[in-house]
Amino acid sequence: MGKEDQKENEKIMKYRKTILITGGAGFIGSHVVRRFVKNYPYYLIVNADKLTYAGNLENLADVEENKNYKFEKTDIVDKKAVEKLFRKYSFAGIIHLAAESHVDRSITGPDEFVFTNIIGTVNLLNAARNGWHDNLDGKLFYHISTDEVFGSLGSEGMFTEETAYDPKSPYSASKASSDHMVRAYNHTYRIPAVISNCSNNYGPNQFPEKLIPLAINNIKNNKPVPVYGKGENIRDWLYVEDHASAIDKIFHRGKPGETYNIGGNNEWKNIDLIKLLCKIMDRKLGRKPGDSEKLITYVKDRPGHDLRYAIDSSKLQKEMGWKPIPEFEEGLEKTVDWYLANVKWLENVISGDYVKYYDSMYSGR
Ligand code: NAD
Ligand code: DAU
Repeated sequence: MGKEDQKENEKIMKYRKTILITGGAGFIGSHVVRRFVKNYPYYLIVNADKLTYAGNLENLADVEENKNYKFEKTDIVDKKAVEKLFRKYSFAGIIHLAAESHVDRSITGPDEFVFTNIIGTVNLLNAARNGWHDNLDGKLFYHISTDEVFGSLGSEGMFTEETAYDPKSPYSASKASSDHMVRAYNHTYRIPAVISNCSNNYGPNQFPEKLIPLAINNIKNNKPVPVYGKGENIRDWLYVEDHASAIDKIFHRGKPGETYNIGGNNEWKNIDLIKLLCKIMDRKLGRKPGDSEKLITYVKDRPGHDLRYAIDSSKLQKEMGWKPIPEFEEGLEKTVDWYLANVKWLENVISGDYVKYYDSMYSGR
């Protein structure tokens, strides 16, 4: 080992634990990284991210200089790169968020979803298994998943931890598949693993291909706001920092082998949500009430569009005392304020690639 490597090793050794967070440059990942770097100075946080179109290190500009934070540009599909990462650090915990996450992209091109979400997860599981051998004490593989693995609800009922998997899109099928692999490694090889399945997140730093930031951006620029079908699909919205606080609790107190549902208990029909957003934007932009609503444009529906998601998060609430904080309108307002104040961030992520993607998604609708 050279002198530099030795110095680097000594630095790593002084931390109580080294934790790998994958996908930390993305929307939710960046909020999780920030929370862990700031709240746990005695953990070394390693953020491994490929920096796809959705990964943006600007999201972490405020913590990048912290001593207990390191970034490693890594593609989790690249088995050798993952093995190298696990040779460099001795991870006690893994919080796995890296994924292809957009349903519409999974419909036009499912392959990347299979590579990253399934093969990437298996590469991480294998590396954890090889690195941890039989010394599994104090180790945890925490897999971040979605409520979409449960499929679609009718007008009644909620998803619980016991709901059978019934994924309907290539995205949700790839996430369901990765959840099954995590459970199989827990059952077969005794890898200590937990999974959480969360509902729709919103908040700062979300890439503007997802409904809320896309609508904010279009309203701001007086462009049509595309609403799929009749706008009657229902989602259960959770502020991203509430997801990060749930992840923190589950990472520290979750029981290996268990699954936890996370949700906002906050169901909204898409069209009602967009109308509320238009009302907030009219106020923020000094427009006449009703002006932004005129931008609402009904477009061709998403193929196989899930009707309704609703999460029962009572297990997490009872066992760990977790609860979501901001009221939806307050959270939405904070989100609008963030996007209006961060014009540069928005301009940077809306690159040539985004414009091409947007045109291909919405031009024929
Ligand atoms: P995102 O698309 O904003 O970010 C994904 C991150 O993963 C990006 O930084 C990207 O660069 C990285 N990444 C993608 N492929 C990679 C690869 N091959 N190797 C390494 N890094 C790679 O996603 P998000 O919305 O922040 O979602 C994060 C996780 O949470 C995902 O696993 C998603 O399934 C899950 N989830 C999301 C929501 C939601 O509403 N956004 C809800 C529930 C669960
Ligand atoms: O439920 C959790 C999931 O939520 C996560 O696992 C996914 O990663 C995340 O992308 C999200 O999936 P959705 O498909 O629900 O989110 P999206 O923002 O793409 O769409 C929300 C709803 O709005 C959905 O019913 C489709 C609709 N929609 C979406 C877009 C982008 C529109 O009507 N118009 C649009 O332009």
